[in-house]
Amino acid sequence: MKKLFAMLLTGTMMLTMAGCAKSVNAPAETSAKPAETKTVETKTEEAKPENKKLVIGFAQIGAESEWRTACTNSIKGEAEKLGIDLKFSDAQQKQENQIKAIRSFIAQKVDVIGISPVVESGWETVFKEAKDAGIPIVLVDRNADVPEDLYVTRIGSDFKDEGKKAAEEMAQLLGGKGSIVELQGTVGSAAATDRLVGFKEVIEAKYPEIKIIKSQTGDFTRAKGKEVMEAFLKSDGKNIQGLYAHNDDMAIGAIQAIEEYGLKPGEDIKIVSVDAVKGAFEAMIAGKLNVTVECNPLLGPQFYDVCQKIMNGESVPKYIPSEEGVYRQETAAADLPSRQY
Ligand code: AHR
Repeated sequence: MKKLFAMLLTGTMMLTMAGCAKSVNAPAETSAKPAETKTVETKTEEAKPENKKLVIGFAQIGAESEWRTACTNSIKGEAEKLGIDLKFSDAQQKQENQIKAIRSFIAQKVDVIGISPVVESGWETVFKEAKDAGIPIVLVDRNADVPEDLYVTRIGSDFKDEGKKAAEEMAQLLGGKGSIVELQGTVGSAAATDRLVGFKEVIEAKYPEIKIIKSQTGDFTRAKGKEVMEAFLKSDGKNIQGLYAHNDDMAIGAIQAIEEYGLKPGEDIKIVSVDAVKGAFEAMIAGKLNVTVECNPLLGPQFYDVCQKIMNGESVPKYIPSEEGVYRQETAAADLPSRQY
C-alpha cells in the first residue's frame, strides 16, 4: 500500500512541475510547453498571474519618422492603460544603443523584452544572453536574422508584400511604362530590404517596360529623402516619371525637392510610398502624392497581449501579421478623418 502511495505521489509531482515550468522562445505553431529542444525554461517556477504587474523592457529604434512616433505612442499609451511597468529605451537609430538597452533590461530582470531591431544582423549574442537569463524576446515591427529559438514571435507587417503592392500601384499609375527612382529605407533593415525585393520582383516579372534607374537610401527620414531626391533630379531631371519611397516621410521630403526643381509631384512624377501616416493623406489631398501602402504602427495592444500569453505559458504563433490596406489620392479626403496616426 505504502509503495503504491509513494508511486502515485511521485507521478503527481512530476506532472505538476511540468505544468508549472514556463517556456519561452517557442518554435512556430507550437505551444509554449517545456521539454522541446527549441524551448528554454525561465527561472520563475510559475506562470505570472494576469493581475500581477508585468515588467516589460522595450528597445525602440528612435524617432526617425511619423510612423515611428505613432508606434512609440502605441507602446507607451497601451502600457499606461494596462498598468504595465514599461522600461522604454530610444536608441536614436543606433544598434549599439539597442544592444545596451537589452543588457540593461536583463540586469533589471524584466519579464519580457520587446525590440524593433534597427537592422537585421548582429543580434545573436545579445539575444542569447537574454535567453540564458530566461527572458523571452518579442520582435515588434522589424525582423532580426537570428535562429528561431532566440525569440518567441514577431508582430508586424509583411514588408515584402508592401513592396509588391507598391509595384502594382506604380505600374497602374504609369500605364506599365516609364523610368522610376527609389528611395530606400535604412540600409540593412528588414523594412528596406524586403520592400526593395518585393517591388523589384513584381516590376521585373510583370512590367519589363518600367525601369528603376536610381535607387539609394534616404534612411527613412524627410531630410535625407529630400537630399537624395535633389541628387536624383540633378542627374536625371525630366527623365523621371515615378518615385517609389519606402516610407511616407521620405516621399514628403522628396515632394519638396520636386517642387523646388520646378516639377509637379503627383503629376509630372507619380509617387507611391509606404506607411499611410496622416502626412501622406494631407499630401494626397493636395494632389502631390498618389498612393500610400499601409504599414500599421499601432502594435501596442498586440504586443502586451502576447507578453501576457507568454507569462501565462500559453501558445503563441511564430509570426503575428498586422492587417493593412492601400490608400489612394481619390479617397484620401474621405479616409483622413478616420485615420489614427
Ligand atoms: O519598420 C517600419 C518602418 O520604419 C516604417 O515604414 C518607417 O517609416 C519607419 O521608420
